[in-house]
Amino acid sequence: MVSTRFLWGAASAAYQVEGAWQADGKGLSNWDLYTNVYRATESVTGRQETGNVAINAYDRAQYLADIALMRELGINCYRFSLSWARILPDGVGRVNEAGVAHYQRFVDDLLAAGIEPVVTLYHWDLPRALDDRGGWYNRESVGWFRNYASIVREALGDRVSKFITFNEPFIDLFLIEPMVDNIKLGVGSPFAITDAHYAQQAVALHHWLVASAETIGDFRAAGYTGEIGVALPLMPTIPENPGKSEDIRAAALADAVINRWCLDALFKGRYPIEVMTTFRQLNPDFAPFEADFGILAANKPDFLGVNFYAPAYVRQDEAAPLGYNWFDTNPDPEPAAFNGPVRPDYLRRLLERIRDEYGNPAIYITENGAGFGPVDEQMVGDSVHDPRRANYIRRHIEAALKAKENGVDLRGYMVWSLFDNFEWLQGYGRRFGLVHVDFDTQRRTPKRSFDAYREIIAQGGVTTAD
Ligand code: BGC
Repeated sequence: MVSTRFLWGAASAAYQVEGAWQADGKGLSNWDLYTNVYRATESVTGRQETGNVAINAYDRAQYLADIALMRELGINCYRFSLSWARILPDGVGRVNEAGVAHYQRFVDDLLAAGIEPVVTLYHWDLPRALDDRGGWYNRESVGWFRNYASIVREALGDRVSKFITFNEPFIDLFLIEPMVDNIKLGVGSPFAITDAHYAQQAVALHHWLVASAETIGDFRAAGYTGEIGVALPLMPTIPENPGKSEDIRAAALADAVINRWCLDALFKGRYPIEVMTTFRQLNPDFAPFEADFGILAANKPDFLGVNFYAPAYVRQDEAAPLGYNWFDTNPDPEPAAFNGPVRPDYLRRLLERIRDEYGNPAIYITENGAGFGPVDEQMVGDSVHDPRRANYIRRHIEAALKAKENGVDLRGYMVWSLFDNFEWLQGYGRRFGLVHVDFDTQRRTPKRSFDAYREIIAQGGVTTAD
């Protein structure tokens, strides 16, 4: 059993759900360009798709109906992100009052339904005007972000008690942005990520981390009384061949880059030594100032958001960046979900590792969920049967609650995602929702996993009888 204060929720991101890409004075974002101008999904899936309409979540009539579904599900929190370009069309400077008013109304509507808003400031959509100025590679990005965050704090800080500065630095900067870069250049495969990408993105990641810490400091200095944290994509790394020393070494380096880099930054105010040496070699511009580590150390987050989908099996591969590969391998007999092998036991181990190595911080699971291929998701009459997703969610919640029993300071669980939505470069072909969305009509149909999650919430967790 869990206490009544435990948060049960669902998570989403602005570009994946809002649509309304030019409504009410919104500026353009990098993703508006990636999808409309560079036709980025076409390079990956063969289908030209955009988030111009997405699941129409900007529309109030639509989102009120969606909130009614949230109530039916029984969740007590909803995590969503803000579109920076809706609030500041040029990234800095003029504030778009209509954009601010939209988010104030949405937050009020959630609160009126008894659902606590958990607001992510940045989930990968950067105003285009800032992208044109070098984006996150430019050190000025720290100031741009602090300015945007302070406008949000003034607009929403009185009614939002949980903010997340950044979502998943590693996945956006080291996986998705390099793919977009390949697509823009139009040479080779979008998947051909190189050391040169890593070299550049290390600088950007440093700026994200400093911007996050400065923002946490700004919120505290302004007397903000809620909690502010960061959401990381965490993947325990496993040598694909545990008897091979090259794979063991590769898995250790992958762990330093994917997991420990940000965890050490957030909770220890420094970067792992392997990260410093590897990236200094790749890029002399990667030279974090000593003062930056002071900023990180002085502004630790109130909580850690854990986004967990799968562990990463790592193999040595000299052709891959940093000499290892991790995403296309699944030695387990059970089929992998879209985001990797289904191994809930690694969620428990991960949470217990954070308890032991990072001082047992407050944790919310800010994303966990699964997509499988079309055979695992069948429309039967008026309902969608998705047994693998239901099973995935139940087993991961069970693993998380086991970690909680073992002393992990776990305070909530948010499923990714309530609705099928725009899955970045994979477009609309990869469904993660508990609710099926017909993207032509916007019709919503709860899946069997919706019922499964509702039952888990109603009984306050997973009991062994399940
Ligand atoms: C991201 C989401 C994404 C999900 C499923 C996470 O990496 O934060 O935006 O849709 O995984 O792939």
